[in-house]
Amino acid sequence: METLLLKADQNGIEKAGEILARGGLVGIPTETVYGLAANALDGEAVARIFRAKGRPMDNPLIVHIADVDDINRFSLISEVPAGAVELASAFWPGPLTIIMPKGKAIPDEVSAGLDTVAIRLPEHMAARAVIRAADRPLAAPSANLSGSPSPTTAQHVLNDMDGKIEAVLDGGVCRVGVESTVVTLAGDKPRLLRPGGITLDRLESVLGEVEVDDAVLNKLRDGETAASPGMKYKHYAPKAHVVLIKADDDAYIDYVNSHADDGVAALCYENDVRRVNVKAYSMGRKDDYSSQAHALFDALRAIDDDATADIVYARCPKPDGIGLAVYNRLIRAAGFEVIDLEEV
Ligand code: TXA
Ligand code: MG
Repeated sequence: METLLLKADQNGIEKAGEILARGGLVGIPTETVYGLAANALDGEAVARIFRAKGRPMDNPLIVHIADVDDINRFSLISEVPAGAVELASAFWPGPLTIIMPKGKAIPDEVSAGLDTVAIRLPEHMAARAVIRAADRPLAAPSANLSGSPSPTTAQHVLNDMDGKIEAVLDGGVCRVGVESTVVTLAGDKPRLLRPGGITLDRLESVLGEVEVDDAVLNKLRDGETAASPGMKYKHYAPKAHVVLIKADDDAYIDYVNSHADDGVAALCYENDVRRVNVKAYSMGRKDDYSSQAHALFDALRAIDDDATADIVYARCPKPDGIGLAVYNRLIRAAGFEVIDLEEV
């Protein structure tokens, strides 16, 4: 199949809407990462997403809407849980996904057999325009091959999906750079399942206390079930072996330089780049978590594209604010391997 590259102008958006309405797959821009979209109400179209990504069928998808009214219009949920209206009015449109009891219109392929559904109203204008053009809610996971870093440009999507999907809509570089925050309101208490662009503090300012799921920071033990199935898979990983180094500036530089060799690379803050004696990839500015989120996946993909690194010593980011999302992704890229130079 030839994959069309569409501009996010009126023509491109209409074309993408037509493809989606007749059961096709389109890579679409959002403010977080690019999504691989299909009509969320068409189980067969949704099943094609899993095949294109090589995604396990037990990992449910997020349903994207263009207006809050779409939830009722398409019978997406069976009840409005406590806190949902407050959360939606505070953070939608934006990088927040809310899990709620699922409605009768949701095919099993979307919810992977769970009795809940994840819903998000993205902020990106082209994302909302294409949902409106398709006149249907769109199921969309990140548009990468399963296990690879999420795509933050249309070119990243083509690198993974060329020939497998009908089209990619080019809406530029994603503003946030990591996926949405996922919070469930389907249990007794609100619980953070995946950190993202909306920080825990901001969620708590609306909901009061929010529990943080174990899988956000820690590796699941064998046999433990994940509240968010996506958390159990090795994720975001480049082909090189990534190790996190927990250290201050000087100790990190010393560690990398004392291990400098062919096949060694550094994934570090901007200021570290000129101090290390190995090929270095910047993951943004040290005290600017947003810049780290923005840079992370592009850097992980650049490491793959160059294909010269066998081992990457990555700086362990601070798990505060949006930094928690950066830490959550990078520790998975590293398979939870951390060298702690701060421990005495
Ligand atoms: O920013 C984002 O959220 C992007 C853009 C495209 O919107 N999408 C995205 O989708 O990251 P995906 O499929 O890569 O990640 C969705 C996460 C997975 O960890 C999945 O397990 C979880 O949300 N999820 C989806 N539905 C769920 C449900 N009903 N219960 C628990 N977790 C759910
Ligand atoms: Mg993903």
